[in-house]
Amino acid sequence: MDNEQIIDETIDKYTEYVNPTLANLMRFAGFGDVEDSAEGTIIRDVSGNEYIDCLGGYGVFSLGHRHPEVVAAVKTQLDKMPLSSKLFFNKPLADLAELMAKIAPGRLQYSFYCNSGAEAVEGALKIARMYTGRTDFISTINGFHGKSMGALSATGRKVYSDPFEPLIPGFTHVPFNDAAAVEAVISDKTAAVIVEPIQGEGGIRVPSDDYLPKLRELCTKHGALLIMDEVQTGLGRTGKMFACEHWGVEPDIITVAKALGGGVMPIGGFIATPEIWEAVFRENPLMHTSTFGGNPLACSAAITAINVTMRDNLPARSAKLGEAFKKKLVTVKEKHPTALVEVRGMGLMIGVEFAHEDVGELCIGGLARRGVVAAYALNNPKVMRFEPPLIITETELDKVVIALDESVAEALEMLVGIV
Ligand SMILES: Cc1ncc(COP(=O)(O)O)c(C=O)c1O
Repeated sequence: MDNEQIIDETIDKYTEYVNPTLANLMRFAGFGDVEDSAEGTIIRDVSGNEYIDCLGGYGVFSLGHRHPEVVAAVKTQLDKMPLSSKLFFNKPLADLAELMAKIAPGRLQYSFYCNSGAEAVEGALKIARMYTGRTDFISTINGFHGKSMGALSATGRKVYSDPFEPLIPGFTHVPFNDAAAVEAVISDKTAAVIVEPIQGEGGIRVPSDDYLPKLRELCTKHGALLIMDEVQTGLGRTGKMFACEHWGVEPDIITVAKALGGGVMPIGGFIATPEIWEAVFRENPLMHTSTFGGNPLACSAAITAINVTMRDNLPARSAKLGEAFKKKLVTVKEKHPTALVEVRGMGLMIGVEFAHEDVGELCIGGLARRGVVAAYALNNPKVMRFEPPLIITETELDKVVIALDESVAEALEMLVGIV
């Protein structure tokens, strides 16, 4: 089969069997080829085009694609025992849980592993309810926590939640970065406040310095838990192992996923304090379970991912590269003041806000034609986000800056008289 045939057949099958509207959207956005292989910071399509991956799987590929040490660890485990019987003790699970307790802030000690970010959020919500004996939650408008029923109840975007009402009762959504709004609604019925330390899908929104400390204070005062959703920000992305560390905040529960699998295996998890674990699991150790959760294959990937992240000082690398990249993106913004409104973010989690959605959309196609992959934030389509692998080089980031500059100029020319 030649390349053209592979592309046509794959798109036809998407149209017939996967999701026809998505197929159209992908073609329109400039992703009309089929991805074939990837290595480090580079994705290749079947036509042989190469792209610098500046989206990084929305935070999955912090170590890049197919990191050799993660691949080797997974291959070794694959040849021994990929999935566990669940009857005996599972060494990779025990090792991962110990490692997670070492890197997690504060008194967070016990962890549970599952297969995705949404599942991690589901578990965190359940244990918060059981520990506190309360039913209400506070989350943020435009926050994103996943699309399963519980996680979707926390997610603050009506376009995704309205069609599925009634969801889990007891959720109140308040504006992000507004501690007074939390103070106004928190009560002795609140089980937890769930928040992303930096909103990812909401458009890479960094809160003011007093926001998370104030939420910590409010939760403690009212006997509610603070759940930090670090599914996107966690494991070095923002310049610290966990983003909440930028503000010295110790949550009661942290959720993780995405980068935890080292870009090779799907895995999610949540870590909490001993007293929460005791309340949930003391009487019934099977109170929360998952058939595939904590499987040896995924745990071996996660152990290696964490060790490589620490050994190679990737959080510090992310902080340094991110600052330099942000400065260069600001020069592009200053060159195109009518198109670009703001550049913001921490480490290599950076958002570029466009004045008009249309310019941003055209730029994503423009970048793809110039060999750069990026995307807009799900809950804020005016914001293009850059979340490249933390192993990306300065030279590659410079190419991205040039490609963005050219794409904005091109989009403005195409939309002359419209925007
Ligand atoms: C902060 C946050 N929480 C939860 C999720 C849901 O993760 P998943 O798509 O693996 O279910 C995401 C996904 O983007 C996320 O960014």
